[in-house]
Amino acid sequence: STRQIPKEKGLDQSLTLLNEGYQYISNRRRNQQSDIIQTRLLGQKAILISGEEAAQLFYDERYFKRKGVAPRRIKKSLFGEHGVQGLDDAEHKHRKLMFLSLMTPERLEEIKKITMQQWEKKVPEWKREDRVVLFDEAEDVLCRSACEWAGIPLQEEEVEQRAREFGDMIDAFGGVGERNRKGKRARDSAEKWIQGIVKQIRAKKMNPPENTAAYIISFHRDHNGKRLDTHTAAVEIINVLRPIVAIGRYVVFSALAVHDHPETLPELRAGEDTYTTMFVQEIRRYYPFTPLLGAIAREDFHWKGYPFKKGTLVMLDVHGMNHRADLWDEPDAFKPERFKEWKGSPFAFVPQGGGDHYMGHRCAGEWITVMLMQTSLEFLTNHITYDVPEQDLSYSMVRMPTIPESRFVIRDVEKRR
Ligand code: HEM
Repeated sequence: STRQIPKEKGLDQSLTLLNEGYQYISNRRRNQQSDIIQTRLLGQKAILISGEEAAQLFYDERYFKRKGVAPRRIKKSLFGEHGVQGLDDAEHKHRKLMFLSLMTPERLEEIKKITMQQWEKKVPEWKREDRVVLFDEAEDVLCRSACEWAGIPLQEEEVEQRAREFGDMIDAFGGVGERNRKGKRARDSAEKWIQGIVKQIRAKKMNPPENTAAYIISFHRDHNGKRLDTHTAAVEIINVLRPIVAIGRYVVFSALAVHDHPETLPELRAGEDTYTTMFVQEIRRYYPFTPLLGAIAREDFHWKGYPFKKGTLVMLDVHGMNHRADLWDEPDAFKPERFKEWKGSPFAFVPQGGGDHYMGHRCAGEWITVMLMQTSLEFLTNHITYDVPEQDLSYSMVRMPTIPESRFVIRDVEKRR
């Protein structure tokens, strides 16, 4: 028997989404008392879904594809065109393997080492300053680490510009007007820069180590045996660099969590791996980053009796799922210990996508993210001490992506040991 999907009244809700931000899907769920809701977004019919089973459906590639999902304004700023995010089937799996081949244990150890060194280098500078904006510094540190690790040369004079460009692409996601234009300008500039590097690498005028993203992506052959065109190669190299810089937001939320929950500090300082792992998992659950994900129905089908029509945009409630009462007890409390008991379902905890890294679109950088969050936390809690002056640490639940208003200012930085 066919059931009717509860339907939002009215015209296109794109503006409602921008006005409600991270709470858009949760609000619709509450209004309709349903985990599946039909609405209109981006000028088309869309179905919103939430919950563990919904995530399982969303990652079933028999039913969904990604080609054509990202709107033009997102491809022009955040993602770039012809990148892995919008590929399907054999082409996607082949390209995805290229990204995952970068993530060997040795290479992960390397980026961890590089990142700790880059944090350490900041200390003498910070000691001289009256105030340090942690968010800006985190993006700077992570931009240096990302480029060094990926085999992309970065002159001291250009760090500020390149870090800001990656930051602007990320910041453009839910932005309209100037924020979106800034993201586009940043992408144009970064793509031009990286395309120049790809050309030099291919001409053997620049020779990064063979295990780096710069080398591997420059010489990658697609599923049809052809090299990526220089533009696509640049887009994919940026798909490695930019999200490493994005970890800066989680670093700031980690610092905020330590500040708001000082009782966690002794445990973090004890450096027990299990505690810091639980802590960063709770950061990825508790704080908002990815609001939702989209896919398009390949065919007409029914799920739990609800009809899905071919071509319909379906949105998964990523942020809302991190705060569902059927998945987390006391979902709105910050409790790292909850991860002690956690069973690790690939569809219940999806801050960076769900399912399988190889078979689906789940984030290729999840291991780097967790690792660099731990490294950064270790630096902030064990290697330095600092003061957190009065400031506005609140973060908007409407702005996507969000960040504390003050960008987390610290002062009186001292080396701890
Ligand atoms: C995909 C989040 C860090 C590389 C994704 C997806 C999300 C995500 C939500 C989409 C999953 C889907 O479409 O189903 C994040 C967040 C990060 C982060 C919040 C940290 C702040 C990284 C890092 C890298 C990376 C460090 C690489 C070094 C990628 C790539 C994809 C992806 C290549 C595309 C995968 C595909 O389409 O198959 N990420 N990510 N991400 N991420 Fe991340």
